[in-house]
Amino acid sequence: MNISAFPALIARPNSLCDAVPFFEKRGVKKLFLLSDPVMAQSPHLVPLREALADASIGLIEFSDFAGEPKMAKMDEIIALTRAEACDGVMGIGGGSALDMAKIVSITLVADRPADDYWMMAHPLPPQSLPSVMVPTTAGTGSESCSTNIIADRNGHKGWVWGPETKPDLIIHDPVLSTSLPASLTGWCGMDAFIHAFEASTNRYAHASARGYGHQALRLIVKALPQAIADGDDLDARQMMLLGSAWAGAAIDQVGTAVAHHISHSMATLAPIHHGHATAIGFEVTLGWIIDGLAGDEAAIEKFQSIAETLGLADYRDLPQFVSDFMDSCQIDRSLPVSFAQFDKDKLIEQLLADHTQSMRVATAREVTEDAIKDIVTRLANLPVQAA
Ligand SMILES: [Fe+2]
Repeated sequence: MNISAFPALIARPNSLCDAVPFFEKRGVKKLFLLSDPVMAQSPHLVPLREALADASIGLIEFSDFAGEPKMAKMDEIIALTRAEACDGVMGIGGGSALDMAKIVSITLVADRPADDYWMMAHPLPPQSLPSVMVPTTAGTGSESCSTNIIADRNGHKGWVWGPETKPDLIIHDPVLSTSLPASLTGWCGMDAFIHAFEASTNRYAHASARGYGHQALRLIVKALPQAIADGDDLDARQMMLLGSAWAGAAIDQVGTAVAHHISHSMATLAPIHHGHATAIGFEVTLGWIIDGLAGDEAAIEKFQSIAETLGLADYRDLPQFVSDFMDSCQIDRSLPVSFAQFDKDKLIEQLLADHTQSMRVATAREVTEDAIKDIVTRLANLPVQAA
């Protein structure tokens, strides 16, 4: 699968068991299923287990993880799946579950540990195991993306990257996301919104990425407030899944920008939800980026077309639109208690670290060292959540 390819997609309610005929056709004998801990206990997986058994496909399940992917956890998973000789992979859950499952699908066909693929240290094997990814959070777009976020053994957030990790089939079953709380629906949805926005406006944005990005934005601005207001609205949930996947396809081609640079760096200081940190980073920097575009007609055109996609006449109104949209989605942009008195120098050091520079460099406005110090000061001045 190449970088711009979008995997096969099944998108309808109650479609989870459609994975079974796919694995049958691919001759899978023993499936590795990695799912979020909550999803593993839910009744939604019962029909899937029964259908796999009816098809005589063995099943090895794993859900013993918390937070974002870490290399030590990958060692455990790879050892298990190698010992069990799994020959197919399915991931069900948020971005962390899918990223880990995708890394398994490629690492299982190689002799190397997952470490060897962190930050592209070695080329990926050309083929992966047959795989199906089923997102339940409508945020990361991991299912349509080549990027798989994982922290190295020092806790530094990075990624395993390659189109070889994309699944063969995506299933968007909106029923699976109806139990997601409104706050998580909001943070995940904003993450997808910012993926689409950054991929449509960064220095590398091109027609294909912008096409996916703009479509994603149209869906997300319509569906996210409704998905938050009524978590059981299957149409809104379905639209959010598709918007998130299209946003994922957009960042797959051209990456993100400074909001994600901030978000990834914040995550190295203390635990914070990725969508929460990204929303904070986006709101703190969007007006600053737009203020610095004067004279850069190519960049202005990208922001202006986003503005028109969102129903605005002037791109300079985007910061207010975004803040209003976050308000309408009840997005909390205050800092978590763990960031009440965070180490500003440490965050600056992380924002300047070599391995995170791709997002900084991609930003439409040059993010100088002075700009980073100013951004960190503004982050430190944000209100803090009540304990
Ligand atoms: Fe993100």
